[in-house]
Amino acid sequence: MTCTALSPLQQQETSDVTKMDRFDTLVESLKDILGPSSGITSDDVDVGDLMHAMEKYKSDEREWSPYAMADASRAYTRNLVDEGNGKSNLLILVWTPGKGSPIHDHGNAHCVMKILRGTLTETRYDFPDGDKNKPMEVKSTSHHKENAVAYMADELGVHRISNEGSDFAVSLHLYTPPNVAKSGCNIFDLRSGKKSHVPKCGYFSKFGHILKE
Ligand code: SIN
Repeated sequence: MTCTALSPLQQQETSDVTKMDRFDTLVESLKDILGPSSGITSDDVDVGDLMHAMEKYKSDEREWSPYAMADASRAYTRNLVDEGNGKSNLLILVWTPGKGSPIHDHGNAHCVMKILRGTLTETRYDFPDGDKNKPMEVKSTSHHKENAVAYMADELGVHRISNEGSDFAVSLHLYTPPNVAKSGCNIFDLRSGKKSHVPKCGYFSKFGHILKE
């Protein structure tokens, strides 16, 4: 067998190809981890495996930018990347500076979030106590920096995410099972704790294509 060393140009091409494929590889890995099970609620899938796969990926804007559609007239955009064989929703969210999501629950699903660009602030609250009309109390505030991975589920309360930076921030969210895509979620009023159901949490783009209104 003869081994031929790669020329500098070939080395560059090889490393470009490897880099170009890494985000796609992450998407495939997440799908493989979920496998044929019914999302991570089934015994054979571990949320730790999903978080580990996201942690291993080092963000490279060139790889995920085809999905990251910004719109400064909105607080943030929801861009569908993959549906994980019907077991999940993988979204890229692009956050307008100074804006954020409403306080919301997660429709009895799990959310794994990775920061792809910038820093996002997560504010957690306890689920409001029944019908009592009282302001929601902050349970914790965290600042998630680029490449950080975080986990959220209804057992941990409700939360909102905001971009306190001066530039767009970008995050990757895996929801499984895809309950929110099917049935919506609840949002909560900060002052009263009052719950409202949002029947449809729509997409700004799907698989890299902006959707018509
Ligand atoms: C969303 O998926 O629309 C909300 C993201 C978040 O704030 O957790």
